Amino acid sequence: MEQIALTINDRQLSASSGMTILEVAKENSIDIPALCYRQELSPIGACRICVVEVERSETLVGSCHTPIAQGMVIHTHSKKVLQVRKTMVELLLASHCGNCFMCDKANICELRSIATDLEVGLPRFQVKKRYYPVEDASPFIVRDLTKCILCRRCVSACNEIKKEKVFGIAYRGFDSKVVVDFDQPIDKDVCRDCDVCISFCPTGALSKHGEIGEEKKGEPLIISG
Ligand code: SF4
Ligand code: SF4
Ligand code: FES
Repeated sequence: MEQIALTINDRQLSASSGMTILEVAKENSIDIPALCYRQELSPIGACRICVVEVERSETLVGSCHTPIAQGMVIHTHSKKVLQVRKTMVELLLASHCGNCFMCDKANICELRSIATDLEVGLPRFQVKKRYYPVEDASPFIVRDLTKCILCRRCVSACNEIKKEKVFGIAYRGFDSKVVVDFDQPIDKDVCRDCDVCISFCPTGALSKHGEIGEEKKGEPLIISG
């Protein structure tokens, strides 16, 4: 396989063609935060948290879905990248009406963890929030779409790993939503009890019955201010 020479954060590296920037970074212990990306799934490119600066590119690029190219010079933590990444996280949190202090998944929430790493403090933006009732009619899943960040990992995981199509995305813009069939409630007839979607959800939007409260027994909750 052709080897590609590239530079990440002033380190001269070589990697196989066809790899993405994020894959090369991971292989070389360079940490780029990613929310919608999971190694087990095809890149989704929904969250833009993984953006990096590529010299001579006019815009920041999503590292999870951008293949490396010969001679690329990449900066993963430049001032511009950090500003954009932080703003993306702030916008996600601003439209999200969960409260990390009260959330049962706070200790394992990837959004909250990335927000902490980026030193996101009190909200700067006033944006409309999405409110949905908690759905607990399924014996297998409790769903709270107020905490959904539309990363689509549940859609892809169900589809690619379980070869099922339980979830899809419907509506546009602010009304975009993960739906079951034609926006049916999740009930006992829908889910196949495999937990795959729950294990791939990065926030508190999907959980198991009986799991509520369990995570609070874990690490102490630390909120950056
Ligand atoms: S899902 Fe994550 S970001 Fe949302 S309230 Fe819970 S801990 Fe906070
Ligand atoms: S329910 Fe969870 S996994 Fe699915 S899109 Fe929302 S945040 Fe992502
Ligand atoms: S992790 Fe790359 S766009 Fe979400």
